Amino acid sequence: DWTTGNVIEEQVAAIREQVGTKRAICGLSGGVDSAVAAALVQKAIGSQLTCVYVDHGLMRKDETEQVEKDFVAATGVQLKVVDAQERFLNALAGVSDPEEKRKIIGREFIRVFEQAQAEIVAEAPGDQPVEFLVQGTLYPDVVESGGGTGTANIKSHHNVGGLPEDLEFKLIEPLRKLFKDEVRMVGAELGLPDEIVQRQPFPGPGLGIRIVGEVTKERLDLLREADAIAREELTKAGLDRDIWQCPVVLLADVRSVGVQGDGRTYGHPIVLRPVSSEDAMTADWTRMPYDVLAKISTRITNEVADVNRVVLDVTSKPPGTIEWE
Ligand code: XMP
Repeated sequence: DWTTGNVIEEQVAAIREQVGTKRAICGLSGGVDSAVAAALVQKAIGSQLTCVYVDHGLMRKDETEQVEKDFVAATGVQLKVVDAQERFLNALAGVSDPEEKRKIIGREFIRVFEQAQAEIVAEAPGDQPVEFLVQGTLYPDVVESGGGTGTANIKSHHNVGGLPEDLEFKLIEPLRKLFKDEVRMVGAELGLPDEIVQRQPFPGPGLGIRIVGEVTKERLDLLREADAIAREELTKAGLDRDIWQCPVVLLADVRSVGVQGDGRTYGHPIVLRPVSSEDAMTADWTRMPYDVLAKISTRITNEVADVNRVVLDVTSKPPGTIEWE
């Protein structure tokens, strides 16, 4: 029967068998899934694993520091940090289509991994080849990318449908049969701290799919500020565990008229998308306390330049997806 202990044991054995004496790399996104996948693979093959954190500039505030500190402290894993902000921004320049953005981000990820792979080999040339790539793909990701049993492709999750066809890696996906709550249990059993295991989900393509319109450095900085405010207020209100996640979305191509101080403004709206869910396959919009919403709205419009309106998304999934892209 299903216990976290059994899942870990089974996966550890399978990974050892699959990898043998070769080496693997794992991308860390700062999210729960990649952290648990990495910890599981590390348990199986130890120092044959190197984690790679790609700073693509689409991260939330303080995310990079958290991976560098907390995850390494909890696992002792070998970590390589790659600054790829320019590369991603250049690749995304001029692109507004959501699926195209996802494909570009997925493709650039893999290219950076391939580069990291070459560097790891160059640093320890006599060693075994780096043949495997670990991905924190969950069961719902497989289903929603059309990889399950005949379901339509809803979105190209970058760690499933968005991989390039000429992929040089063999994949290790130890969480492929699990749901989020099960992944959290496995992570806890592996000794990962609550700050990692209980984090709200955050998509691999990051803030890149939370800007409706073209992704630019200025827009990312603006959204990062708004997102940090929303998260801070949700945490202060003690709502972290009640809310599955709360995407904060910038409608970059929309402007509306406002009045601030003694002048007319013509700024962008920010959308709050708090949802309640069991597994992200379906979701309901969270009936959040009005005073918390008010606080977030006031702070965002006061503190984030060029934002003069905050709106609340009251759509369940279906028909809306959790993310806007
Ligand atoms: P949607 O928008 O499809 O999101 O209702 C369902 C859940 O998946 C997350 N999500 C992603 N996670 N890579 C990921 O690792 C992705 O490309 C991706 N797209 C969406 C989303 O945040 C929600 O939790």
